[in-house]
Amino acid sequence: MSGLELDGVTKAFGAARAVDGVGLAVAEGAFLALLGPSGCGKTTLLRLVAGLERPSAGRIAIAGRVVADGGTFVEPEERGLGMVFQSYALWPHMSVADNVAFGLKVRRLPADKRRRRVADALAMVGLADFADRKPAQLSGGQRQRVALARCLALEPPLILLDEPLANLDAHLRETMQREFRRLHRETGATFVTVTHDQAEAMALADTIAVMHEGRLQQVAAPQDLYAAPATEMVARFIGRGALVPVAILEPAREGRLTVSLAGRTLAARGAATAPGPGRLVLRSETLSLSEALDAIPARVVDAVYRGGAHTLDLAIDGVEDVLVQVHSREARAPGTRVGLAVEDAWALAE
Ligand SMILES: Nc1ncnc2c1ncn2[C@@H]1O[C@H](COP(=O)(O)OP(=O)(O)OP(=O)(O)O)[C@@H](O)[C@H]1O
Ligand SMILES: [Mg+2]
Repeated sequence: MSGLELDGVTKAFGAARAVDGVGLAVAEGAFLALLGPSGCGKTTLLRLVAGLERPSAGRIAIAGRVVADGGTFVEPEERGLGMVFQSYALWPHMSVADNVAFGLKVRRLPADKRRRRVADALAMVGLADFADRKPAQLSGGQRQRVALARCLALEPPLILLDEPLANLDAHLRETMQREFRRLHRETGATFVTVTHDQAEAMALADTIAVMHEGRLQQVAAPQDLYAAPATEMVARFIGRGALVPVAILEPAREGRLTVSLAGRTLAARGAATAPGPGRLVLRSETLSLSEALDAIPARVVDAVYRGGAHTLDLAIDGVEDVLVQVHSREARAPGTRVGLAVEDAWALAE
C-alpha cells in the first residue's frame, strides 16, 4: 500500500500555481525527499499533505484513505501524521517534556501512558536528561531534536519534515542525518522531507522527487537521478555536471546511442527516440585526459592544484561557453591543447 498518494495536486495563489498537477506515490515505510530550488513549491506541497492548505484541484490519500479531493477535506489532526517545521515551533514557556507531551494531551492520552511515550521519544533523540529544561536553555540542534521528539511521541505512520536541518552547522547536520536514518529504520514510518540541498536529500532519502516551478521533474533513486537525469534542470541541479551541446546521430537502442561532438563520434547512454540536437551530461569522474586519436579536442582554460590532483577547466573545441572539469595527476598550463576521453555520459534530447 502507498503511505502517501498524490494525484493531480494543484495549489493556486491567485493566478500563480505554487504546486501544479503533482502526481506521486510514496510506498509505506519509504523515505522521500522533495528537492528543488527556493520557491519551487516544496513547503506548499508539504502543507497540502498536512492539511494546512486546501488543494485547488487533485486528490491526496494517506495510507489508502482520501484526505483531500473535490468533496473531502480531513482536518490536519485527523490525518495521522506528524510534522516538524523549519522553525521548530516549540512553546517557549513549557519545559521540554511538556512540549513533547502537548500533542498527547490534546489526544487525551492517560497520564501514565503519556509519561512513558514522552520518555521514550526523548530517549530516541538522545535528550532523556533534558526533560525539565526550557527551549531557551537548549542549543539549536537540541531544539531541533525536541521538535522531532514531539512528532515521534505521536507515533504517526507518516512524518513530514520541512528543511529539518537548515539551521544547524555542518557537523551537527551530519550527525542528525544519521539520526534521521536510524529513526526511520526504528519507527518504520513513512518519512517525507523537504530540502533545497541535494547532498542532504541524497544522504537521507531512498527516493528523491525533484521539483521545479511547482511541477515534478523526476522521481527516482539518487543514483538514477545522477546517472540518468530526465531533464536539463535535473542534470544541472543534481551533481555538478556540464551540459554540452551535441548532435544525436542515432536514436537509442537498449539505452545506448551515438552522438557527435567536436567532430568526433562517441557512444553514450540515453533514451532519445530520434536523431537531432541534444545535450551531453559530462561528470568529471568519468572524464580523463587522453592522447588517443579519437579523443575530443579541447583547451585548458584554468588549472587549480587540489592536493593529489589538478582540477582542469576545459573548453571543448566549438563549445566555448561550457567549461568541463577533469581531474588530472599531471599539471597542464592554461592554453595547453589536450584530448578528452569520455568513459560514460548521458545524452538528453533537446
Ligand atoms: N500563502 C501564500 N500566498 C501567496 N503565495 C504564496 C503563499 N505561499 C507560498 N506562496 C508562493 O508559492 C511559491 C512556492 O512557495 P513555497 O514556500 O512552497 O516554496 P519552497 O519551495 O518551500 O521555497 P523555499 O525553499 O524558499 O522554502 C512561491 O512563489 C511563494 O511566493
Ligand atoms: Mg519552504
